[in-house]
Amino acid sequence: MAASTANSFVGKSVLITGGMGFIGSNLAIRLSELGAKVTILDSMIPDYGGNEFNVFPIRDKVRINYCDIRDENAVTYLVRDQDYVFHLAGQVCHLMSLSNPFPDIEINITGTAILMEALRKHNKDAIVVYTGTRGQYGASVSLPVNEEAPTNPKGIYEISNLSAEKIIKVYNDVHGIRSVLLRLSNIYGPRSQMKHSRFGVCNWFVRLALDNETIKVFGDGSILRDFLYADDCIEAIVQSALVPEAYGEIFNVGSDIPVNFIELVKTIVKVAQQGKWEYAEFSPERKAQEPGDFYSDVSKIAKIVGWKPTTSLEEGLAKTIEFYRKHREMYWANANEIAVALKS
Ligand SMILES: NC(=O)c1ccc[n+]([C@@H]2O[C@H](COP(=O)([O-])OP(=O)(O)OC[C@H]3O[C@@H](n4cnc5c(N)ncnc54)[C@H](O)[C@@H]3O)[C@@H](O)[C@H]2O)c1
Repeated sequence: MAASTANSFVGKSVLITGGMGFIGSNLAIRLSELGAKVTILDSMIPDYGGNEFNVFPIRDKVRINYCDIRDENAVTYLVRDQDYVFHLAGQVCHLMSLSNPFPDIEINITGTAILMEALRKHNKDAIVVYTGTRGQYGASVSLPVNEEAPTNPKGIYEISNLSAEKIIKVYNDVHGIRSVLLRLSNIYGPRSQMKHSRFGVCNWFVRLALDNETIKVFGDGSILRDFLYADDCIEAIVQSALVPEAYGEIFNVGSDIPVNFIELVKTIVKVAQQGKWEYAEFSPERKAQEPGDFYSDVSKIAKIVGWKPTTSLEEGLAKTIEFYRKHREMYWANANEIAVALKS
């Protein structure tokens, strides 16, 4: 980050919705380091990614509000006087959205509308950054996928993210609330939920390796993805918030180096020096939702924001594995056990 950019958050008030989760907590730590006054809004819904331990390094520096993004009064109270709002709260699992679409509709769509209405009424000057998903594109028409590609989402989660993005864009275009709309690829790294396999595939594979379990690779393992290390993702979020030319724009945030699932699991096992893998059949549910090869064209964000990923897969996995080896009990355990451990 350029020196001038490094000082841009000093003394700024920032609200991070979903700040107890994977990406939100890494962002809270980074913004705290950059001198921002960080407020977190998070409902800690069980089985989602919120974890008390995630913000342990900055527990004395951040204000945490345990409330729901759908709580209009709480959101109205929290958006006042914020310079930046990073909107990361959400139901994030496409598998869960298949069996129950309502959390996605209520949290991701209605919750986003509640946030934007609160900003329209009480803080139109805040700058909003939203983290949508590459899943908004659905199956790739050509590779790499750029922001002009059609959006044909394959699940309710992805539809809800696309809807949230469009809601925020309308508030940018019609009400003048400046926003940056990011579409993240597969992010991996420290502070993810590691308790179940329903979302966060790369992190889950890391857990299986560290448990010396067998990682199951669906199909022939040739499907391509771009896995992006969390720190790179955080830099994209932070930097894009500061660039006026980025306001109102949609940007892919991914790695420009695609890998297939075989390469991914082989690298995990090599770096961890433990674990094993085998081929497995897709479940019908997963097969129906699999959009096939995907990797992001990140040239637009490189050109307008000046951001590029810098962490190789091996390097990112090494840092990820080191983190979970060190803090295993805080991620393998349930929320109550973590709360007790943090108090002792
Ligand atoms: N992790 C990825 O690979 C990835 C990829 C694409 C997009 N995204 C998007 O990035 C954002 C953050 O994802 P993440 O991976 O950090 O997930 P996460 O589950 O770790 O974090 C989401 C946080 O939102 C909170 N939350 C959920 N519902 C809430 C509600 N109703 N009110 C308040 N807080 C609520 C959760 O408690 C959790 O702490 C999401 O919008 C997600 O769709 C993530």
